[in-house]
This record gives sequence, C-alpha cells and structure tokens, in this order.
Amino acid sequence: MSSPVGTETNTAGTAGTASTAGAAPAPWYVRNQWYVAAYGAEVGREPFSRTVCGEPVLLWRTEAGAVTAMSDRCVHRRFPLSQKPSRLAGDRLVCGYHGFTYGADGVCVAVPGQRRVPRTARLTPYPVAERDAFVWVWIGDREAADEALIPRAPWLADPGYTTVSGREPLAARYGLLVDNLLDLSHETYLHGGYIGTPEVAETPITTEVDEAAGIVRVSRHMDDAACPPFYAESTGVRGRITRWQDIEYHAPCLYLLHSRIAPAGTPPPAADGSDPDAFHVEVVYAITPETEHSTHDFWAVARDFAPGDRAVTDFLHDNNRTVVLQDVVALDALERAVAAEAGAYQELSINIDTGGLAARRILERMRTAGAGA
Ligand code: FES
Ligand SMILES: [Fe+2]
Repeated sequence: MSSPVGTETNTAGTAGTASTAGAAPAPWYVRNQWYVAAYGAEVGREPFSRTVCGEPVLLWRTEAGAVTAMSDRCVHRRFPLSQKPSRLAGDRLVCGYHGFTYGADGVCVAVPGQRRVPRTARLTPYPVAERDAFVWVWIGDREAADEALIPRAPWLADPGYTTVSGREPLAARYGLLVDNLLDLSHETYLHGGYIGTPEVAETPITTEVDEAAGIVRVSRHMDDAACPPFYAESTGVRGRITRWQDIEYHAPCLYLLHSRIAPAGTPPPAADGSDPDAFHVEVVYAITPETEHSTHDFWAVARDFAPGDRAVTDFLHDNNRTVVLQDVVALDALERAVAAEAGAYQELSINIDTGGLAARRILERMRTAGAGA
C-alpha cells in the first residue's frame, strides 16, 4: 500500500537497540533477506570468500556453471576453504589443511585416515540465485528463502542497455550508505563538477513509502537545470536540461535510481511510456553489509544511448567511480565520527531526510522481525 509521506519532520530515527521480549536480541543486520554477494562475472572456478552480514561465504562455480555458496570454514578445524592450498578437484572442494573433501552441496564425502565420514560433516549451504548481473545469497533461515522475493535490476542484463559497474569497499556501516543514496541533495556539495548542480539541492522532493513491500520512493523533478559534466559529456546535450531523479529503494539491499535527462522543454514521456527524445540512465546500487562497520558498495550505471560507444563507456565508468569514491571518503569519515560518539547524540533532520528516515524505520522493523522469524 503506498502512502504519501509528510515532509515535516524533526525527529531522527537513529538505529535502535530494541529487542523482542522473550526472543533472542535482534542482530545488527536484517536477517531473512536476500543480499548481493557478488557479480556473476566474478564467480568462476577459483573459490573465493566474501563476508555478508558477518558470515564468510565461499563462492565458486561448478563445471556445469552453477554458482555454489557455502560457509568458508572447514568443519574440521575451521580452515578457510578460500585459502590455498585448498582447491577444487572437478566439483569437489578439498580443504588445504588436512584434506576433508566436500561436494558442491557442501556435504563432506571424504576425510583422511578413515572410511567413515561423520554424518554431521557438512558445510552450511546458502540459498543462492543469479539474477540480472548479480549473485544473491539468502542470510537467515533456509526454509524461508523464496527467490520470488529477490528485487530486480533488469537493465543490467538487457542488451538494449550498455552498463559499467564496480564494487568499492566501504569502511562504514551500511545504514550510512542508505542515508546517502536516499538524499541526493548531497550531489550539489559532495559531487559538484561531476553530477551535482545547484538545482539538485534547491528542488524539493516527494516521498512515498510502501510499508508492506519495504520500498521507499523519492522523486525530484527539475524542469530547468544546469547539465552536469556527467551527463553533458555522455549525452552530448549542452545547455539547460530537464532532469528527473526517481529513486526506488528495496530494503535492505537494492537501490535503483531512474534518471531521465533531456533538453529543457522536451515533453514528458507519452502515456504508453515511450520517451524517444530523452536519455535514460539506470543507476543501481547493491548495499550489502559486510561487518557491523563495513559495507560492500556495488554500483552500476546502465544507459540506453550511445550503445557500444567505448569513449562514453570509459567516461561513465571513470566518472561514476570517482563519484562513488567521493562518497566512500565522506562515509568513511562519518563512520569514524559516529563510532567515536561517547553516548547518545541528536541529529537534526529536515525535509530532504524524509526518504532516509522512512528507510531507517523499515530497516528497523525488518531487523526486529527477522530476529524473531
Ligand atoms: S581444517 Fe580442513 S581438513 Fe582440517
Ligand atoms: Fe553520492
């Protein structure tokens, strides 16, 4: 159910410590959710580890091409299976410490020095699914994993779009990146000369929250704005533009920014959705908690113009990565400041924070619900 949200607010929804009476305390992350662990292109025949919500997940592809995800700790003495000389032999994973050997389902099939394999010798398997360009893993109770719940970013696998992407380590808690992405007014100040212009901070937003689905939508439509270098160089449009930013945040992990750029005065999209005179950029982030104080920042930019134009592709990759790294530097500094706070602190929130506050509320509800599930 969508409901418009008032833009008057002066309360800060800081991360709470509430726990459900009689239940285990809620963990710091949201359990029973799908998270992006990797790009599909990263996963091959060389097993590697990626920590998701504090859990080390080992990823590799079988000879048939299926992605497997399991605990990166040998059941024997907890040797990381991503660590050499652990290795794959066909579709069997051999621990590099004493040779425990596992199948692609994580079940141990051989141990050294005895024929009997203990019945409980099994790596924890994670439900895993490839969607669009991402590999998603389910963190929580395996029986609750439902692939239909995975939010989609279809542009990343659409031949009609040309995509650049990357992943940056962020030494900051994931909530700080959620805050950052839901309030793009910071583009004017943090990303001036790249994607920021004065109109971004000056133009009011509208916010809608779908509480049941856990989706926050924030829109800012600028009808007569300066064209920042990011779009001027990539589209070739010079002069004033109409610039729409329509955010869709699917808590906890997937963030979509539908960006529409056109020369000022271009009519809006037709009723059937066609919009031939505008340029469309789909900016996608996957926000995956690594530890309580660090985050995997997956970013992608998909465009529907200049397909295959190498110069545009290289420009958008380098420019967007620069922008992402500007956020990384800022959020790393913010994490250090927040982590050093001695006690409770008071934030001051204004209209621009409406989307971020809604996201915090949804994440907090999911976090406490996930603990009891
Ligand atoms: S720790 Fe893996 S076989 Fe001993
Ligand atoms: Fe930013």
